[in-house]
Amino acid sequence: MSKLQTEILTSDASGLATAADVLARGGLVAFPTETVYGLGADARDNRAVARVFAAKGRPSFNPLIVHVPDLAAAQSIARFDDISLELAQAFWPGPLTLVLPLRADSGIAPLVTAGLDTVALRVPAHPVGQALLHAFNGPIAAPSANPSGRISPTTATHVADGLGGKLDAIVDGGACTVGLESTIVGGTPPALLRPGGLPTEEIEKITGPLAKAGDTITAPGQIKSHYAPNAPVRLNANAAHAGEVLLGFGPMQSDLNLSITGDLIEAAANLFEHLHRLNDTGKPIAIAPIPNTGLGRAINDRLQRAAAPR
Ligand code: TXA
Ligand code: MG
Repeated sequence: MSKLQTEILTSDASGLATAADVLARGGLVAFPTETVYGLGADARDNRAVARVFAAKGRPSFNPLIVHVPDLAAAQSIARFDDISLELAQAFWPGPLTLVLPLRADSGIAPLVTAGLDTVALRVPAHPVGQALLHAFNGPIAAPSANPSGRISPTTATHVADGLGGKLDAIVDGGACTVGLESTIVGGTPPALLRPGGLPTEEIEKITGPLAKAGDTITAPGQIKSHYAPNAPVRLNANAAHAGEVLLGFGPMQSDLNLSITGDLIEAAANLFEHLHRLNDTGKPIAIAPIPNTGLGRAINDRLQRAAAPR
């Protein structure tokens, strides 16, 4: 792929108008959501979507999430049953992705769903993501804006470092507040396909206990080694071994700490930024244990993938 001049755009009206224009011409634009930065393309344009896979170096059997501004737009793309509707009404806009049956007349490019008859939909809460969806006035397919298998991006700088030269523009909307990808739910009865920025406990208040992925439906993207820094990762570490850098949690001596006070929301927001910074040291990374409740489950899911054999 030839190298592109990646333009950094401001998140004001003029930056967003340029970004919408680039998308309309089949270009790639990274933009902030409250979870992570997405690498966006017009979800109706197969060529543009193909460029997303190429830029990320992503295996093409892995389908993408379609971002829309609201529930009405989502309903023009997929069919909602009662529970999905309740979930959408409770948690959109926000860090929840629903996998639903695709409508025949959805207009969504086949590459987006990788040939499946379902589609993953999400209404982001980030004001800049929302403003871009309105300016573009169409569905935006967007995986996280990182090279496939690498640490997810929570700032425009992360995107530029990982994908600079492979996309047309990056809308800089500052750091993402949630810092973890959306929670993905799909299937009948609903199953948890990926733990994420919306705690499972919140969803289960509406659905009751969620089924496990694989029971009714699977998320093709849930490969074992993912979010991987360059150096080896060691989990459940209470201290650094010689040569390692330590990522702490709670009150402890460490090189960087996800949350000194042991706050899981703060830890989620810091996770990828801190992994990027420790990765830049080039040293093996030891990581303190994280409690497996609330957002801790999604954090541990990401850390286990980061530490998995490559
Ligand atoms: O927070 C997020 O969800 C971010 C921001 C940019 O919105 N996006 C994101 O996308 O994490 P991505 O492409 O990195 O992850 C999408 C996940 C993959 O694991 C994929 O397998 C699953 O969604 N997925 C997409 N469509 C699906 C479908 N039709 N059925 C099952 N899983 C699907
Ligand atoms: Mg990703």
